[in-house]
Amino acid sequence: MKDRIYVNELPQHVGQKVTVAGWLHNLRDHKNFGFAMLRDKTGIEQVVLNAEQLEQLRALQLESVLKFTGTVVERKAKDPSVKAVEIQAETMEVLSPVTTVAPVEISKTDLDLNLDTLIDNRVVTLRHPKQRAIFRIQAALVHGYRSYMSKQGFTEIFFPILAGAASEGGSEFFKVDYYGREATLSQSAQLYKQITMGVYEGVYGLSYSFRAEKFGTSRHLTEFNQFEFEVGFVDGMDEVMDHAEAAIREMLTTVEKTCELELKLLSVTLPPVGKRFPRVTLKEALEAYKVEGGVDETHEPDLSPAAERWLSTTWGPKHHDCGFVFVTDYPATKRPFYVKLDPADPSNTLSFDLVGFGSEIISGGLRVNKYEEQIERLKAKGLNPDQFEDYLMMHKFGIPPEGGFGMGLQRLTQNVLGLANIKEATIFPRDVQRLRP
Ligand code: 4AD
Ligand code: MG
Repeated sequence: MKDRIYVNELPQHVGQKVTVAGWLHNLRDHKNFGFAMLRDKTGIEQVVLNAEQLEQLRALQLESVLKFTGTVVERKAKDPSVKAVEIQAETMEVLSPVTTVAPVEISKTDLDLNLDTLIDNRVVTLRHPKQRAIFRIQAALVHGYRSYMSKQGFTEIFFPILAGAASEGGSEFFKVDYYGREATLSQSAQLYKQITMGVYEGVYGLSYSFRAEKFGTSRHLTEFNQFEFEVGFVDGMDEVMDHAEAAIREMLTTVEKTCELELKLLSVTLPPVGKRFPRVTLKEALEAYKVEGGVDETHEPDLSPAAERWLSTTWGPKHHDCGFVFVTDYPATKRPFYVKLDPADPSNTLSFDLVGFGSEIISGGLRVNKYEEQIERLKAKGLNPDQFEDYLMMHKFGIPPEGGFGMGLQRLTQNVLGLANIKEATIFPRDVQRLRP
């Protein structure tokens, strides 16, 4: 729309005639005059209506799409340090009339809805400034990730979603009928990003992942995105973790720089990131949980959700002023077939998780890059190498020592913003029960 300015630009136009457009967020009716609270993508501002315009809006509902021309004038503000303005409307045009009452009241400061009502009415609840803020911050995280990775000279790859075999093992995958054949929906871009190590040496991408989770939890979706990463000619696992840490630092800085208003609106303080994310083995983590946390899970082959929470919200902040903790050295029984075994102890793997502000946000590690070794690993996991012919072709034709990671976009958003349920960090979430809207 030519000549239109946004609500957040209004203070620079005091005394001038402007055109604004947006949604009727609220209407204040004072009989002979009134105020329309007009919302656009940048904020909400007050438009002073004459009796005739007010009359016209009385016949409509909130969320009607309107266009005004009028003069910007200063008004008294509650907070005298900010320059408050309003528009004295001269003309009003209804671009899209709404005649149905919205299912939820989105003009309130807080929506205060239970999660199902929030998501059932997503089409409308997304318009609430606090909901909008979540996905602006998510977009800034993505922007920071891409910025870090492209500065390293890495190549962005777009991975397929329709696949033959499942990559992560287990039964958590969706089958689809593909012209009478059975295909699966990608659980992760794992095998494809590894294949690109024969060419690009460093790749990244935002993939779609699907998991046929059996239960709904506050941390699991059936469809989510992963920040994928893979790098070749690595000396060891620390190099992969260095990239994960540096990427996250740039992502959080990008949020701080570009989403000041959104963070304020959500009353969010970003997690402390210390000087360096601590790196501990699974054994050390479980030992600390026993000694300092008072819970003995030292016999477990993995971190429980409670241990992850304790490690990243209590132990990390206390000892390292950091809400992120790398945990390394997971047992081979707990890691997929592509993960490199520890040459010093083949029951151990050269793999890691990053727990961040409440739960796991990354899994990663070094990969098997030799052909014979990969055949052995597949067999040991009870998988048939014949079904991995394309994947094994890369091992046959030379893959450097390499590693990488996958980081859940929605999981990261959830933890960084301290949201109780991952669905709040997902614009259109899918879970065991939900396939709409
Ligand atoms: O831990 P996962 O399953 O690891 C992989 O997919 C590997 N291919 C990664 C690698 O490069 N080695 O998934 C990676 C991340 C998790 O740490 C979590 O953040 C997120 O993806 N994730 C989920 N997010 C939402 N819902 C689910 N069901 C998720 N499953 C994993
Ligand atoms: Mg994992």
